[in-house]
Amino acid sequence: MYVPEQVVTNDDLAKLMNTSDEWITERTGIKERRFFKEGVDTVSGMGARAAEQALQRAGKTPQDVDFIVFATLSSDYNFPGSGVLLQRTLPFRQIGALDVRAQCSGFIYGLSVADQYIKTGMYKTILVVGSEVQSNVFELSDRGRNMSVIFGDGAGAVVLEATDEPGKGILHTVLHSDGHFAEELYLEHPGSRRKQRFSPDMIEKGELLPYMNGKQVFMNAVKYFPEVIREALAVCNLTEADIDLLIPHQANARITAAIQKELNLPDEKVVSNIHKYGNTTAASIPIALCEAWEEGRVHDNDLICMAAFGSGFMWASALVRW
Ligand code: UT7
Repeated sequence: MYVPEQVVTNDDLAKLMNTSDEWITERTGIKERRFFKEGVDTVSGMGARAAEQALQRAGKTPQDVDFIVFATLSSDYNFPGSGVLLQRTLPFRQIGALDVRAQCSGFIYGLSVADQYIKTGMYKTILVVGSEVQSNVFELSDRGRNMSVIFGDGAGAVVLEATDEPGKGILHTVLHSDGHFAEELYLEHPGSRRKQRFSPDMIEKGELLPYMNGKQVFMNAVKYFPEVIREALAVCNLTEADIDLLIPHQANARITAAIQKELNLPDEKVVSNIHKYGNTTAASIPIALCEAWEEGRVHDNDLICMAAFGSGFMWASALVRW
């Protein structure tokens, strides 16, 4: 994982807008987040830093990688995607690089894509990255406070490889979407629908800021998180009690608490680090996985459950036998 150096506390934000540490902590569980530094951190660059660490821990070099899956909603350029920028940053071969646009569910969608390529035998070693720079898409003002206090910047990565060990690895992934809710959490501009992709009055009217119907997202998240986890468990003939570690997308500590309660999991089986990084969208699960692994919470043979819900709406789960 890699996170930018600059720590931004709730009190720091309260100096810029009408908010408070109390409001943010109570509603989201967030205490601080990281903001990128222009000229130092980019989505592809942070992804590369995370990828280097993942490869080193896996005992691999960039030359061993057959394919890159890069999940982000905040790519360096509008096009091309950040996957190719990562490809040129480290000494990879001229391998394929696929950008995944599935927002908060991006990492699990990416994992699922990689899993299929490995299971079909097309590729042996795949790098899956989630990376986001979001601090510059929100306005640090009263107008932007409903979203700007929640999101942060960072990156995480994993190396997936084919294994012959029976029963190990990714057991199953479940992917869902419902585009009827696309406009409940979205950034319309600059999109291709209008003749003029952006104009000065869009800036003034705040139309270049993302929109989120927080309550709608919250209500759906607490419904679909447990549902998509149970769906994966059922396919594998497993139950909630079999989960050794739940790594949910870090959207809101209250959402995580609701899932934990619904699935009847004790604290030690649930990873939560939102207080340190806020919501880092596609990066939140690999960052949380990395920290859990470093803390010795991930053991051989453990059943790891990852799940996410977010913009799209898109939601997903993955079951991994470590
Ligand atoms: O990864 C997926 C992406 N997103 C999510 O999962 C987010 C899901 N939703 C949420 O986490 C919650 O809905 C929020 C944390 C975003 C908001 O919590 P809420 O309890 O739904 O608050 P609200 O939006 O209903 O706002 C309550 C009040 C409003 O004031 P009034 O209308 O009651 O006077 C807001 O204007 O809080 C106000 N408010 C703030 N006050 C202080 C909104 N943002 C802030 C803020 N500081 N930053």
